[in-house]
Amino acid sequence: MTIAVYPGSFDPVTLGHYDIINRTARIMDKVVIGVLQNKSKTPLFSAQERVNMLKEVTAELENVEVRCFDGLLIDFARNCGANVIVRGLRAVTDFEYELQLAQTNRVIAPEIDTLFLNTNLKYSYLSSSIVKEIAGFGGDIHMFLHPQIADKVKAKFAQADACIKG
Ligand code: PNS
Repeated sequence: MTIAVYPGSFDPVTLGHYDIINRTARIMDKVVIGVLQNKSKTPLFSAQERVNMLKEVTAELENVEVRCFDGLLIDFARNCGANVIVRGLRAVTDFEYELQLAQTNRVIAPEIDTLFLNTNLKYSYLSSSIVKEIAGFGGDIHMFLHPQIADKVKAKFAQADACIKG
């Protein structure tokens, strides 16, 4: 059985992430999306909110599971019984960091390989950070996210604005 872990921050999940999930689900028996609960970053959405959003957009993909993790990715992957870690590569700028991550993980856990999928050209520029920047300035984000996720991002920024204005 081929089990892949697709790890990330997913703050929030974009159409680019979804494309990778969908394609991985077609080639693997099972995909476990690992949402990093990173205490060193301050995410827009809590880990539970990010997990819930991923569950919502992947509800129709029967072999996809969403879990939260903390600590080393390789420990999480082993815990899931995964043989493969999947990462999306958007452009050459991603390559150096991704290769370092993959090489290090391979030294720690030689039994788990990293598989890179090239991001769909349509989403090769897209990142969660850029979406948050646009939303923060009140820009249109509907072309980057599932509609229900776009609504949640807009609501977060509206909430933050309301707090600032008192
Ligand atoms: O979506 P991101 O933020 O690019 O994902 C990065 C992620 C989660 C894959 C990476 O930060 C990670 O694996 N973190 C877990 C900690 C870890 O294992 N670090 C050592 C990797 S060499």
